[in-house]
Amino acid sequence: MSIAIAIDGPAGAGKSTIARLAAKELGFIYVDTGALYRAIGLAASRRGFSKESQSDIISMLDMIRVELSFNDKGEQIVLLDGEDVSGLIRTPEISMMASAVSAIPEVRAFLLDLQRDMAHTENVIMDGRDIGTVVLPDAKLKIFLSASPECRARRRYDELIEKGMDVKYEDILSDVIERDYADSHREIAPLKPAEGAVIVDTSGEDLETSVNKLLNIMREHI
Ligand code: DC
Repeated sequence: MSIAIAIDGPAGAGKSTIARLAAKELGFIYVDTGALYRAIGLAASRRGFSKESQSDIISMLDMIRVELSFNDKGEQIVLLDGEDVSGLIRTPEISMMASAVSAIPEVRAFLLDLQRDMAHTENVIMDGRDIGTVVLPDAKLKIFLSASPECRARRRYDELIEKGMDVKYEDILSDVIERDYADSHREIAPLKPAEGAVIVDTSGEDLETSVNKLLNIMREHI
């Protein structure tokens, strides 16, 4: 039987970086489920839909194909209708669109089986917002990873600047606060720790410390 580790938490808590490194160390596949919502956000944005165009976004689901694949380095690739959109989904605009589409129940239902199927066939560390609460409630280990909004905004800012994007720290911080509110107050699958989740705060920690902390917790449980 395959082993699943669920990691949930707000944007910028370091989930993806930490989960990717931990997965490599344990020989698990790392699945970033946010990329799926981002791909749908991109599909909606390409069609010129606004965040409020719920019915258009729902009708669009029958016309698009979202898939995850992995390259030979084990890195996740997101395919939208067969096109690799892994880079295109990482902009602040698509972040906001992804948050909006993720509040639509039909979008969540559309992505549910895809996520569950991956966990049934492989040992996975899957990160998202509702992995421990909805997608994999029976995961062997559930972790809720968080950090202060300022710390998370600073990390996201550094990441985007390194990619050569022209962004302001204040804008990123207000995006983080706005997205936190939207993600934790939506009616369906709101962001909250799953029952039995181990809660880990990474504020002020460097990456190595957080990865080691998580690896210790994981090794104790698997
Ligand atoms: O982790 P991320 O920033 O790439 O996620 C993008 C958006 O998708 C985020 O606003 C929350 C949403 N999301 C979700 O609702 N459920 C998940 N399992 C993963 C992401």
